[in-house]
Amino acid sequence: MAGSSHQRVNICFFLCLVGIVSASEYSTSSSSTTSSGTSSNYLLNPFFYAFKCPQALDTIKKQVTNAVSIEPRMGASLLRLHFHDCFVQVSRLLVNGCDASVLLVDTASFKGEQGALPNVNSLRGFGVIENIKAELERECPGVVSCADILAVAARDSVVALGGLGWPVSLGRRDSTTASLSGANSDLPAPFLDLNGLITAFQKKGFTVNEMVALSGAHTIGSGRCVLFRSRIYNESNIDPTYANLMRANCPEIGGDSNLSPIDITTKDVFDSAYYTNLINKKGLFHSDQQLFSGGLTASQVNVYSTFPLIFKFDFSNAMLKMSNLSPLTGVQGQIRKVCSSVN
Ligand code: HEM
Repeated sequence: MAGSSHQRVNICFFLCLVGIVSASEYSTSSSSTTSSGTSSNYLLNPFFYAFKCPQALDTIKKQVTNAVSIEPRMGASLLRLHFHDCFVQVSRLLVNGCDASVLLVDTASFKGEQGALPNVNSLRGFGVIENIKAELERECPGVVSCADILAVAARDSVVALGGLGWPVSLGRRDSTTASLSGANSDLPAPFLDLNGLITAFQKKGFTVNEMVALSGAHTIGSGRCVLFRSRIYNESNIDPTYANLMRANCPEIGGDSNLSPIDITTKDVFDSAYYTNLINKKGLFHSDQQLFSGGLTASQVNVYSTFPLIFKFDFSNAMLKMSNLSPLTGVQGQIRKVCSSVN
């Protein structure tokens, strides 16, 4: 866990000053597991572009903040894009995590990750990333990777909506390949039970505590009717008034693409209302409500609901770990000219 404790020290630099104690210190859940970030992580550092492209971080932040001010949901979409990039790794060797593979579009001879079930008709934000890339190519051609843009844009999105930042290490390079099968098998489905969620995150080196913290990303953004219909019509651990409200926009037949906020109370604010909703049986997806259905994660949900700052702190720490999942570094991969296709 050397990498992980190093990350915690980094964030503590900002936050321990205010005496925040992570919920994981006193929750009941599992022991920590090994991060699946590779040994190449040491090549990433927050100052990677300090000389090669000093304005890179400002450019990304400006464009993300602008996009989120026009449409707050874009912050959610950019955060999810980074998650879906990092969680898909090629093969059991756990290589190519945060490598911008998710941005590659299909061609006649190449089938990438965008057609995978969790991604198709669902992922958004590609245009924002491509605009950032175009500006950076004008400013510093061939320098800033799409994978780094995704990582920084996710952080800046969370900050723009009220979350805490984290120091993103930089120097990731872009893949020349992608894994459709990996995207189909490794991204968690909204129909999973608690054990399935735990397994999916353990596979990537995350503890149960980290899984619960990362799930708090669902405090922003929207979900499609087709993915929560069975919950609002068939499940019993749901508030009846809430179920009725959701049914109004998600009929039993049709309306598959109708959207509802995942956090019914504050959909555009990065707060801990998501967890309070779970306590009130107002989780949108089956998987969300699983975190507060009598299992071992309930105590952590209670802590996050009561102490939002602890959630934000744990979330930032877990995101830092996620953004370091087996990047390509050094001379691996390439720096794409446009993010949607290889050079
Ligand atoms: C715990 C397991 C998870 C499951 C089962 C899950 C599932 C889903 C599903 C089904 C949607 C809606 C997709 C659609 O309707 O097209 C969604 C949206 C979203 N997810 Fe997750 N997710 C999980 C974890 C995460 C994590 C770890 C993050 C980020 C750190 C994340 C960030 C988001 C965001 C921000 C949205 C809203 C996107 C938007 O509005 O464009 N999710 N998720």
